[in-house]
Amino acid sequence: MNDSHEARSGRNYNTEELLREDLAHHLHPFTDYKSLAGEGGGRVVTHADGVYFWDSEGRRYLDGMAGLWCVNVGYGRRELVSAAAEQMMELPFYNTFFKTTHPPAAELSKALADLTPANFNHVFYANSGSEANDTILRMVRHYWHLEGKPEKRVIISRHNAYHGSTTAALSLGGMEAMHNQGGIIPDIVHVAQPYWYGEGGDTDPEEFGLQAARAIEEKILELGADKVGAFIGEPIQGAGGVIIPPKSYWPEVQRICRKHDVLLICDEVICGFGRTGTWFGLESFGIEADFLTLAKGLSSGYLPISAVMVGDRVAKSFIDKGGEFFHGFTYSGHPAACAVALKNIEILRREGLVERVRTETGPHLAKALKTLEDHPLVGEVRSMGLIGAIELVKDKATRAHFDEPGKVGTICRDHCIENGVVMRAVRDIMVMSPPLIITPAQIDDMIAMARKAIDATAKDIGMT
Ligand SMILES: Cc1ncc(COP(=O)(O)O)c(C=O)c1O
Repeated sequence: MNDSHEARSGRNYNTEELLREDLAHHLHPFTDYKSLAGEGGGRVVTHADGVYFWDSEGRRYLDGMAGLWCVNVGYGRRELVSAAAEQMMELPFYNTFFKTTHPPAAELSKALADLTPANFNHVFYANSGSEANDTILRMVRHYWHLEGKPEKRVIISRHNAYHGSTTAALSLGGMEAMHNQGGIIPDIVHVAQPYWYGEGGDTDPEEFGLQAARAIEEKILELGADKVGAFIGEPIQGAGGVIIPPKSYWPEVQRICRKHDVLLICDEVICGFGRTGTWFGLESFGIEADFLTLAKGLSSGYLPISAVMVGDRVAKSFIDKGGEFFHGFTYSGHPAACAVALKNIEILRREGLVERVRTETGPHLAKALKTLEDHPLVGEVRSMGLIGAIELVKDKATRAHFDEPGKVGTICRDHCIENGVVMRAVRDIMVMSPPLIITPAQIDDMIAMARKAIDATAKDIGMT
């Protein structure tokens, strides 16, 4: 890898023309089309290497978001490109329906069974985190049907959770704006999130964690345990603002799920593949689950692929009881995507990246973030491994947020970009999840650019 723009670009782009074509024809995800049109388009990203990407004007950015929480092994990995190319020459596509498999699907399944906690020995493939969560919803209901308890249909989730954007996935998620655009499917309910900084008030954080977990039990008792099939949660809520639950939360959630015979789904789409300093987020919190949702870091985003890890309890029921599971996607277990995922796991292992996050870069990010705490605009910094957040607040003492959520965050995000670092603003929380290959020196650069952006934001809003 190298980070010289000149070495990699080799092509000249006509930015104006590209933006014109894009604006005329491309409807982007999660975008206000009127405001994008008003601005005349955004940025054209042309190439990337390591932890950096470049735009069509030749500007370099440190990618503090690993694309969209996914490029764990960083950009420019020729090994991943070769793995895809070689597989496509050999067998570019064949489906995994009709009792058929191919070498990359079989090998990846074995690798995932070895890598995930001991009770996970079976995998179902899809193409995105959303599809994987749709699959889990179908599996939960299929399981309880096979077990003779078809009325255990309800799935409990949390407000401000993100589980994707298909109709089932957005229903599982707890994003009100998404629910309000077309409604949600039945038999999914939402309870409080474990967001101590924003909602914990004077309660001790660990006590607050227990209270948040007990909201799940209250919901189970209200509906009747005979109606509740599963609980779904991200170990750390990413898109919700990097909400790291108090230590007390997850063990209590697990205890409650076991007590009421409710399946536990860990959505590891962001936390999986090393982000928190363990291979999977649930290992950082010391719990077990019945399903894991895997995507993003599974292939480091080089090709679309997701996977549902199905725990032994559910898999055994499917296999012992039989009956067709009427579900699947044309590209479930796509050969090239499986080959890339296999090579990606090999790289993570060979370079000891998960270990490095746990022992070196994760602690370094925590220390670097801490230096921002003296800033009048910064209410809290928090991180686990290489996922982190900076809460921008109106009043540090009272933890009061700004009256118009998202305005200050957006200003800060734009200043970050001007300073050459990409972070995302969730309301007024600056969130980051850089590639796992980031070095301590690059972390220091990232935080130095963030400080400049926060200073400029404070100036813009008249705080300094
Ligand atoms: C926790 C979580 N689950 C599911 C998804 C949806 O994944 P996808 O966008 O691949 O459908 C995301 C996406 O950010 C996510 O963060």
